[in-house]
Amino acid sequence: MGQLDQKVFLKTFGCQMNVSDSETILSSLVSEGFSETQEVRTADLIVINTCSIREKAEHKLRSMVGRLMKMKTLKPNVKIAIAGCMASRAGKSLIKELPGVAIIFGPDQVSLLPHLLKEHERTQKPVVKSNFEDEAVLFNPDHRTYQAKTSGFVSIMKGCEHKCTYCIVPLTRGVEKSRPLQSILNEVQFLVHEQGLREIMLVGQNVNGYGRDTAFDFPKLLWRLAQVPNLKRIRFMTSHPKDCSQDLADCFRDIPEISPYLHLPVQSGSNDVLRRMKRGHQHEQYRDRIDMLREAQPRIALSTDIIVGFPGETDRDFQDTLDLITSVEYDFAFSFIYSERPNTPATKLKDDVPLSEKKARLFELQKIIRELSYKKSMTLLGTTQEILITNLKREEDALVAVGHTDTYKLVKAVVPLDTQVQDLIQVKITNHHESRLFGESISPLGYTHTKGHLSYDTPQHPTAPLQ
Ligand code: 5AD
Ligand code: SF4
Repeated sequence: MGQLDQKVFLKTFGCQMNVSDSETILSSLVSEGFSETQEVRTADLIVINTCSIREKAEHKLRSMVGRLMKMKTLKPNVKIAIAGCMASRAGKSLIKELPGVAIIFGPDQVSLLPHLLKEHERTQKPVVKSNFEDEAVLFNPDHRTYQAKTSGFVSIMKGCEHKCTYCIVPLTRGVEKSRPLQSILNEVQFLVHEQGLREIMLVGQNVNGYGRDTAFDFPKLLWRLAQVPNLKRIRFMTSHPKDCSQDLADCFRDIPEISPYLHLPVQSGSNDVLRRMKRGHQHEQYRDRIDMLREAQPRIALSTDIIVGFPGETDRDFQDTLDLITSVEYDFAFSFIYSERPNTPATKLKDDVPLSEKKARLFELQKIIRELSYKKSMTLLGTTQEILITNLKREEDALVAVGHTDTYKLVKAVVPLDTQVQDLIQVKITNHHESRLFGESISPLGYTHTKGHLSYDTPQHPTAPLQ
């Protein structure tokens, strides 16, 4: 295939790792002359980056491929490639299940799609490559050809050493592998200096595990990155409570570039459930970590992940989760119904909580999470916050920006007409709708830019899992 003028449509399901992997996939294709299209109809190549974490995510992929196959009958030359965890989990059997798919490639082959396309052209047969690779081809290229959209997602490690009994990630992404320090530095410097980003997001299944397989560690990496000139904000996701050390808490206190926001999944407030999940922590230790973090950085915003309806979860266990959530006073929490995943250790436990009960628990939990979120957002009313602008839109004669605070609260505000994406501006928080915040920018002279009523048309929490 002559790849000049070819268009690629890419759809990403799943977590922040997949978002980062998709940027790498696009980057490798753009280097070969592809351009991205948002319209599937105009695409010559369709790439779907899949997620396996819950069964529902896999259903979505299957129904999407079904729809695409109908389109393929009208446009037979279009190629379909499936990437990500589902490709890794199901590999060759996906080709049988979804005939017509040209390429299946796993999370360790994200930079290899152009080669796989060439192999497919040569052989005219489906190509499947989803084994775990050595680190040479694992990570984002140091210099991308694809413009990062808002904050640069920089993958620093892959895989996971923890073996939580419900989780498919160790099976789809393998053991932990840390990216070499120099390669991370090169990419961050490129994003900040060549692409003009002010914020980077370090991603990995367990970023705190960075360096376990080398002589380095995660807090040292943060100290090193904070020295990159013009990099104003560093965020990271996801952290495991077991690996959340005093050194990490000190980074929140001592490094101004580290955003005071931490996503620290707890999964359950019940020690019995945590034990069956093999999380490696009890709720008391988790609470100690929260106290340690808040002592180091009182402004820190916290979010978490919760699974409801894990095998054997009783009303009492669920109440322990509600108690934990309420007492920690999270800024936000992602919550999921337990979904049995093939070949995970939890399949040996009886999935005995009825679906109706799981749904009722999720409903109750999410109500509490919304209330907590609302309470936290309200504490910002009347304060002045520094906002990193990620989106700008002309509305009549005003310029309206969406950005986020360093604690990752989304704010919409009228801003001066010369404001640009990636600017950091001071905004006074004046209004809210539910937990969404509205503000007015404050110029250095204290003059505020106001406009009547603003409403949201962007997602409230950009770090929410996409599935
Ligand atoms: N069922 C439901 N939720 C799950 N998660 C991981 N595996 C499962 C599963 N089998 C959730 C966890 C994790 C988040 C990314 O997804 O809460 O932290
Ligand atoms: Fe899965 Fe647990 Fe690893 Fe997170 S820490 S990726 S939940 S095994």
